Amino acid sequence: MPPRTRLPAGHQLLSQILFAQGFGERRVCDGLVLKGLVRVQGEVVDDPDAVFPEDRLELVVDGLPWVTHVKALVMLNKPAGYECSLKPGAWPGVHNLLPVPLRRRGLQPVGRLDQDTTGLLLLTDDGPLLHKLTSPKHHVPKVYEVSCKHPVTQAMCDKLLKGVVLDDDPEPVAAHAAERVWPEGLPSGAEADAETLHLRLTLLQGKYHQVKRMVAAIGNRVEGLHRSQIGRLDLPADLAPGQWRWVEDAAVVLP
Ligand code: URA
Repeated sequence: MPPRTRLPAGHQLLSQILFAQGFGERRVCDGLVLKGLVRVQGEVVDDPDAVFPEDRLELVVDGLPWVTHVKALVMLNKPAGYECSLKPGAWPGVHNLLPVPLRRRGLQPVGRLDQDTTGLLLLTDDGPLLHKLTSPKHHVPKVYEVSCKHPVTQAMCDKLLKGVVLDDDPEPVAAHAAERVWPEGLPSGAEADAETLHLRLTLLQGKYHQVKRMVAAIGNRVEGLHRSQIGRLDLPADLAPGQWRWVEDAAVVLP
């Protein structure tokens, strides 16, 4: 066997790059390349041992356009009717909404949304990042749009801001922000006389069913829940329910 030459930093053999991206076992990846099914920056490359930068490399693999990410961080617009659990029970798992290479990489949801909650969900295979984003020491603000059963009063918002006691902990939990939201088109100044069922809640913690339990604690009830923002990342308006997208810079979701 010829002696193995050292690869330049951040470079890898094409077949190994495909393997690490989740395109299958090494021999499957070798096969994809040898069959001429892999384009790199627009050109077919049929040598599995060709060397390329491993991150942000533009590929087309068996017809699937793919930009390599050594560590994956993706956002998903979670529809209702999907579970975040890795071993889902009654409902399909959110992993079913990701393409096969990402499913193979075993991305973990960053915290969980309930089956009936919609909106912004992050998933990653970057262990240290997952730890940072889920650790109670790091306070990443999360914004929820809440539809309530009963009109939301200012007194209810004040209670949420002051802190409410949940059933599993004597220590009160407070919202970082809590505001009533009125329907668009309401004439300005009409808010004082109008009622609204819509609450925008920003939380720094991620306790089990936290929004639903906090809203119950102020004598109201959640009828619909949607997460619209994590850190400085807004759910993009053009990301339809069920669609995913890379998050290119994790700094937008770090505190
Ligand atoms: N709080 C809840 O009650 N449910 C969610 O899905 C997220 C936050």
